[in-house]
Amino acid sequence: MLSVVVLISGSGSNLRALLEAADNPLFPARIVAVGSDVPAEGLAHADQFGVPTFVVNPKAFDTREAWAEVLLSNVQHFEPDLVVLAGFMRILPANFVNALTPNLINMHPSLLPEFPGAHAVRDALAAGATKTGATIHVVDEGVDTGPQLAQRELEILPGETEAELHERIKQIERELIVQTVRAIADLKSNN
Ligand code: GAR
Repeated sequence: MLSVVVLISGSGSNLRALLEAADNPLFPARIVAVGSDVPAEGLAHADQFGVPTFVVNPKAFDTREAWAEVLLSNVQHFEPDLVVLAGFMRILPANFVNALTPNLINMHPSLLPEFPGAHAVRDALAAGATKTGATIHVVDEGVDTGPQLAQRELEILPGETEAELHERIKQIERELIVQTVRAIADLKSNN
């Protein structure tokens, strides 16, 4: 059974998809804790499923590295096999990434390497792109640059707003993250 810690910053709809999937005893992974950098709305999903949560706010630290060290010790307390960044909106410094990669994955609302960064959906619309999508990748020290594990394309509809497009991307992401975590769990159990 793969044990997973999920880190979020926002509404946590992808977290919820994972919690619902893992609620099925046949799913090969369990969500053992959920962490955040802010008191995120999405932590309520973890509460509903009886999963412990923690918040480590960078504002309480002098440096990003000091923050990341405490975030890391919170994560490691739960001894996860995998850490999933599901809408975690802060760049993690090398001390955090190097301690966990390649067992640290991120989801991103674009067809990476196109439109990395915090405003991928807005950037795709501003560039006049006709298609975009979702990517799951291993986190390395770069911003949205690590090896890709899964990607799915989506056509951008004429006149679509950023919010409408992002919601359609998130529908894909929710399926993709559940499939990817399942695939990683199956792979590890066969090794
Ligand atoms: C998702 O679209 C995820 O890809 C994005 O935040 C959203 C979180 O949604 N992450 C990034 O943009 C990271 N660069 P959720 O809180 O509803 O799961």
